[in-house]
Amino acid sequence: MPEPLIVTIDGPAGAGKSTVAQMLAARLGLTYVDSGATYRAAALRVLEAGIDPHDEAAVGRLIGRTDVRVESSGGESHVLIDGADVTARLRTPEVTLAAALVSRLPEVRAKLIQIQRAFARGRGVVMEGRDIGTVVFPQAQLKIFLKADVEERARRRLNQDSHDGHKATLEKTAYEIGRRDQLDAERKISPLTPASDAIEIDSTHLQAEQVVGQILELVRKKGWAERGGLVR
Ligand code: DC
Repeated sequence: MPEPLIVTIDGPAGAGKSTVAQMLAARLGLTYVDSGATYRAAALRVLEAGIDPHDEAAVGRLIGRTDVRVESSGGESHVLIDGADVTARLRTPEVTLAAALVSRLPEVRAKLIQIQRAFARGRGVVMEGRDIGTVVFPQAQLKIFLKADVEERARRRLNQDSHDGHKATLEKTAYEIGRRDQLDAERKISPLTPASDAIEIDSTHLQAEQVVGQILELVRKKGWAERGGLVR
């Protein structure tokens, strides 16, 4: 039996990772996993406990004793914190900011990386994040680094958020995304950087379907197309 196929999709916020990873997983019969949601869930736990996300010792202690679980259902990725599904509560600006802070802490990363790896044991996955190809699955068969211009990423984020009734300007959103890029790229552990064997795709002028088409072509060329189905 071949090893389960692992596809990693890393890149900055708003590059289209979630959409592309979800579509790709459906096409390949693999399980989609959103690793960022585990950091967001940890951040939500910290905020709800009234702990300052900058307080490394307190955050480390709290997350150390928190039960974090990843689940998949209906092609969607879910995170459970102490048994409760918190997935629907992870997209607020407060959680986004706190996630960027708590994801800098080694204890938090060590714990969540183990959970991400354990979820993929014995099954094929498409996992998206920042360090999936570099740290979580350096042995992955296919690594994609998805990027796009910051203005385009801000535009997409605004379109996404306008459904939630948020009012933000393009300029402010681009600034916030740029600031998050900086936090992600500058952190000491697992900074956002493409794996040396990652294939970079610039999605600025591409629809998600076109990006998925390019990745499927790579999968076909390698003869991996049926692997996802085989391992399930
Ligand atoms: O992809 P996202 O916006 O949901 O990620 C939330 C935060 O978690 C973001 O600040 C980057 C961080 N993150 C990370 O450090 N490593 C990952 N593999 C995924 C996300």
